[in-house]
Amino acid sequence: MTEDQIKEWRCRLMNILSSDNKTYKVFADQALDLTLQNVGEKVFFRGLIEMSNRCVKDCYYCGIRRSNSDTHRYELSEQEVLSAVQVAFDQHYASVVIQAGERSNPSFIKKISSILSEVKRRYEGKIGITLSLGEQSRETLEEWFALGARRYLLRIESSNKDLYYKWHPNDNLHTFDRRLETLKILREVGYQVGTGVLIGAPFQTLEDLVNDLIFFKKMDVDMIGMGPFISHPNTPLFDKNETSQTLQDRFQLSLRMISALRCLMPNINIAAATSLQAIDPMGREKAVKAGANIIMPNVTPQSSRADYQLYPNKPCIDEEAWECKGCLEARLSMVDRKIGYDEWGDAPHFFERL
Ligand code: 5AD
Ligand code: FES
Repeated sequence: MTEDQIKEWRCRLMNILSSDNKTYKVFADQALDLTLQNVGEKVFFRGLIEMSNRCVKDCYYCGIRRSNSDTHRYELSEQEVLSAVQVAFDQHYASVVIQAGERSNPSFIKKISSILSEVKRRYEGKIGITLSLGEQSRETLEEWFALGARRYLLRIESSNKDLYYKWHPNDNLHTFDRRLETLKILREVGYQVGTGVLIGAPFQTLEDLVNDLIFFKKMDVDMIGMGPFISHPNTPLFDKNETSQTLQDRFQLSLRMISALRCLMPNINIAAATSLQAIDPMGREKAVKAGANIIMPNVTPQSSRADYQLYPNKPCIDEEAWECKGCLEARLSMVDRKIGYDEWGDAPHFFERL
């Protein structure tokens, strides 16, 4: 993009983010048209496996931060992760996301490698693996790619470095530059790269969000997952709501972010974040109508789901995988969308940039 184009986009994106409900409806319809034209009418499911809530980091917004002693820590065994992959496969979700708190000790790295090898052996590529395991060395990322992981999610959280340090401790473990560098490494290694930001978190302005969208475009990412900030009582950012945004405000802003992003990057995959559903029972369907095309149903064994609380009021803690599948089918048919069963559902953007 030229500087002039960026300027023009900034203006358009700001218009969408600050639109009133009536004007937003027009933008949302445009975004939906762009979705159908560029990524198609199918919504793709990614079975989410929350492998562990053990984490070395101490992010000021996150419920599984190291300093939260009021959480029961767990880690699924390799067998439990493989069973969850099988649950996803049985539901015809041809893609899973393995997510966990951040760690990079050798035994953790080895465990992931071993899971990847076993998935490769069992499913021979019939199930796509996305990792969401935080910042790792180039060597580790290369090892996991070689063992079959193809996509990686690493939210930048905010593209504004100053804001990033209002949400994270300013120490060696939490450096903005390394996070950014890791996104670049992921791309060089060959992953389909996903990132994202928190929306409506303390100290953030609309301008920051416009800059985040421009950042996604400049990074030329394939996937985005972004959702509303939900204040967690056991974290430092709890009740630091100096902008006096309500949960509903953040929800509405998140829908506008999705539509704005779909206009800016029509052929990428955009997730309807689960945190939307924590605010509005129809959150994810509204996101799909706003331009999202990915949903991540939880396939974590039920006994561990409640312990993986990044934010309060997390949905689907008690439902079995098959219940979520039926529920989502009914919900998506209400918004006239089909489901891409047994397909990886890669973003067309990924193939175009190759
Ligand atoms: N509210 C909303 N999203 C959160 N995340 C972590 N804590 C919260 C919160 N309190 C998001 C982060 C992280 C992703 C896995 O969950 O953006 O990258
Ligand atoms: Fe889990 Fe509706 S998606 S119950």
